[in-house]
Amino acid sequence: MSTFQLGDLTVNRMGYGAMQLAGPHVFGPPQDRAQALAVLREAVASGVNHIDTSDFYGPHVTNQLIREALHPYRDDLTIVTKIGALRGSDASWLPAQSPAQLEAAVHDNLRNLGLDVLDVVNMRLMFDVMGPAEGDVEALITKLAELRERGLIRHIGLSNATAAQVRQARGIAPIVCVQNQYNLVHRHDDALIDELARDGIAYVPFFPLGGFTPLQSSQLAEVAAQLAATPMQVALAWLLQRSPNILLIPGTSSVAHLRQNLAADKLVLPAAAVARLNGVAASA
Ligand SMILES: NC(=O)c1ccc[n+]([C@@H]2O[C@H](COP(=O)([O-])OP(=O)(O)OC[C@H]3O[C@@H](n4cnc5c(N)ncnc54)[C@H](OP(=O)(O)O)[C@@H]3O)[C@@H](O)[C@H]2O)c1
Repeated sequence: MSTFQLGDLTVNRMGYGAMQLAGPHVFGPPQDRAQALAVLREAVASGVNHIDTSDFYGPHVTNQLIREALHPYRDDLTIVTKIGALRGSDASWLPAQSPAQLEAAVHDNLRNLGLDVLDVVNMRLMFDVMGPAEGDVEALITKLAELRERGLIRHIGLSNATAAQVRQARGIAPIVCVQNQYNLVHRHDDALIDELARDGIAYVPFFPLGGFTPLQSSQLAEVAAQLAATPMQVALAWLLQRSPNILLIPGTSSVAHLRQNLAADKLVLPAAAVARLNGVAASA
């Protein structure tokens, strides 16, 4: 597996996103707890050393599953979490971005993951819950920098951020990764990915497979058939080939899907296939 740096931490580019392990709507316990634990153990046994999570998945559920399945953690495992939201009793996503709420969220993650220090914390911006929107991040990043100085956080990332917010944050503290929505169809961040690649900063697309409604495209299906792969594998291989700073965190609650996704690491897309796949966004 090829690797990339998250600050001083080396991770395989093929990781795993744990959000799908919580119950429906990322709320409450999983429908199949044994399967959720099995997915986590299989991921790490297969070489995954980068897991993405948050204490607001469940809430608390996903982190507690990670702890139950994997603690004590392997030395080379990097767990990336995110803060900035709380869940309403109706499963809604509520901004929680005051300094006190950010500090409480860090402690929630530490407690539920069973850690003394969080490897990477993404500041999940909520100026618009559904996508990046401009807004001043100085107070948010300053608070994370303080938590880093105090030794509770090792590295800082940003999520749901605009290019301008990434630049502003980088002026306040080192930023090791940006986690935004990006996939074959949703390519709003093309320029940002290239900018971050030049500076050695990881870009970690969420919804790499399309999210709750996985990608559907006749071009993708045709390319997959030609390569004797699944459409999801091709979508992941396309991301790996898109830029060397892209780290993958596909989510699944299924061991079978996990195995398929991890195998995408070995799929090499010929130039003609990449050109065809680049047309998916244009025709979407
Ligand atoms: N920063 C943010 O705001 C943010 C937002 C969303 C997500 N995230 C992170 O990004 C990670 C990835 O996003 P995601 O999990 O929401 O979406 P995703 O990886 O794009 O897709 C997950 C969906 O694809 C299905 N799937 C996975 N592998 C498959 C396969 N091989 N064949 C067919 N279907 C498959 C899953 O269903 P099954 O469970 O049935 O496999 C699930 O419905 C999350 O786990 C989370 O850690 C971050």
